[in-house]
Amino acid sequence: MTGQHATPIALVTGVGRREGIGFAVCRQLAEQGMTVLLTARDQARAAEAAQPLIDAGLDVHPYPLDVTDDTSVQQLVAILTERYGRLDVLINNAAAVADWRETATTADLQAVRTTLEANLLGPWRVTQALLPLIRNSPHGRIVNVSSGAGSHGDPQFRLTTGGGVVASYGISKAALNALTAKFAAELAGTGILLNAVCPGLTATAPGMEAIGARPVAAGAASVVWAALLPDAGPSGGLFRDGQPLPW
Ligand SMILES: NC(=O)c1ccc[n+]([C@@H]2O[C@H](COP(=O)([O-])OP(=O)(O)OC[C@H]3O[C@@H](n4cnc5c(N)ncnc54)[C@H](OP(=O)(O)O)[C@@H]3O)[C@@H](O)[C@H]2O)c1
Repeated sequence: MTGQHATPIALVTGVGRREGIGFAVCRQLAEQGMTVLLTARDQARAAEAAQPLIDAGLDVHPYPLDVTDDTSVQQLVAILTERYGRLDVLINNAAAVADWRETATTADLQAVRTTLEANLLGPWRVTQALLPLIRNSPHGRIVNVSSGAGSHGDPQFRLTTGGGVVASYGISKAALNALTAKFAAELAGTGILLNAVCPGLTATAPGMEAIGARPVAAGAASVVWAALLPDAGPSGGLFRDGQPLPW
């Protein structure tokens, strides 16, 4: 085991697209001087996403990770245990986005299951599996990328917006907020801070600026804030741009 890696090590899930928030989070963390483990469902997609960051001289390393697959998670944990022996920052960014028109009355429960598997059980599985490595960090930070869509408090898009559309996604993020509170309560006093963060409506797909979405770098910065918290920082909350978001 090589537990002496000099720079902080961060792992980001769900970085299959260069247009996504996870990619910008990887860039911002690496620009802070971290070693960034960029993960996507398979090695080819992770390597393709990582290449421009590596070309820019950043310390970024691609790895395969499907957050819904126990074997995939365990294989990566074994590699990281051998190679690094610790993890300082975990960003649970991966998520499945359900059909926008889906409502509670019309939802196909198999599709709901798929959403919950990726958005709730995925971060749960990955956090459980990586916790032994995070416990080896002097300043462990875990960030669950959530959404105001899973809150009652978001002024722009919340659980009841649009007559309850995008039902399973909103419910999965509300559950992720609850999971964050549970983990944080259990880990209180360990030095590990764990929070949920909403990146805000972020332009990760064409046309989103037209509905008021902000640049990807801004959404990513909201997430990175929670990865860089000082030891006296909060744990167990939902935040956007460093401010608490009621849920
Ligand atoms: N964009 C917004 O306005 C907004 C607002 C609030 C919250 N968020 C949250 O921000 C995060 C990033 O979203 P984004 O907008 O950047 O969308 P995105 O590019 O679609 O990011 C989600 C990524 O998760 C990956 N993923 C899905 N299932 C996975 C699995 N089982 N294992 C590994 N990776 C998996 C997807 O991979 P594939 O490409 O292979 O499917 C995709 O690359 C998500 O948690 C999302 O809910 C976004």
